[in-house]
Amino acid sequence: MKTTVVAQQKGGVGKTSTLVHLALDALERGKKVAVIDLDTQGNASYSLQAYQSSLTASAMFKDVSSTPWAEIAGEEGQEDAARLVLIASDAGLADMEKTSLAEAGTHFKEAIRLLALQGFDLCLIDTPPSLGNCLAAALYAADYVLSPIELEVYSIQGIKKMNAAIANMRKANPGLIFLGMVPSKVDGRNPRHKEHLDKLQAAYPQLMIPATIGLRSSIADALANGVPVWQIKKTAARKAAKEVRALAQYVYEKMEIA
Ligand SMILES: Nc1ncnc2c1ncn2[C@@H]1O[C@H](COP(=O)(O)OP(=O)(O)OP(=O)(O)O)[C@@H](O)[C@H]1O
Ligand SMILES: [Mg+2]
Repeated sequence: MKTTVVAQQKGGVGKTSTLVHLALDALERGKKVAVIDLDTQGNASYSLQAYQSSLTASAMFKDVSSTPWAEIAGEEGQEDAARLVLIASDAGLADMEKTSLAEAGTHFKEAIRLLALQGFDLCLIDTPPSLGNCLAAALYAADYVLSPIELEVYSIQGIKKMNAAIANMRKANPGLIFLGMVPSKVDGRNPRHKEHLDKLQAAYPQLMIPATIGLRSSIADALANGVPVWQIKKTAARKAAKEVRALAQYVYEKMEIA
């Protein structure tokens, strides 16, 4: 099982949208996918509610030795409902910010290790927009991190903090690979977006992912309906679908699970 955290210390930049589409794309590729929603907003849990398991996210920060992992993972050969398994956000996640990071991180890493024994190819973790114990524990336990960014000044401000947090976390998790930053909600007609994209590509040539996701209402429609944008039957959704598929292809090639 390869584990990717979707993280950015700025709200509303497209983390959850990216995660939901990556998960549904992987499912169509025939992968067995676990999604863990560590954000108390529960947005990924809403869009992926059809796949909800009996395990909730805060349980992954506790003693998991008696968790019925096989039951949560479902039987081999079952339909889509068991091939994508959602570990949903719950109110208990807020308490994780009160425990020590060492404890939260150790338990969460162990939970990921046990989950990996259940035949999953991929685990995707959605995170809140602030660096608390949940995001830190996810970065500690993961193999990869992916950061959606918006081409606006406040988001660009967040990038430095995020890059510093990733660099810092590599001390505890040296294997953590930064897949890069994906410009999201990009308005092709906005000169400011174009200018910011050019600046970012100059400043972070190795870290900018060569795929962008446009600002497209069909993506918001898809998230509201719990379906991927490629299932939205509108002409305008086609471009969005193409962009999202290209990002998934890039990410899964980098993760060597394409
Ligand atoms: N490419 C897009 N085009 C248009 N709207 C989008 C796009 N991506 C996401 N949105 C919308 O923008 C809002 C924020 O997106 P999303 O929830 O994915 O961001 P987030 O980074 O997860 O936010 P948070 O930090 O609050 O968890 C949502 O209402 C979503 O429907
Ligand atoms: Mg989100």
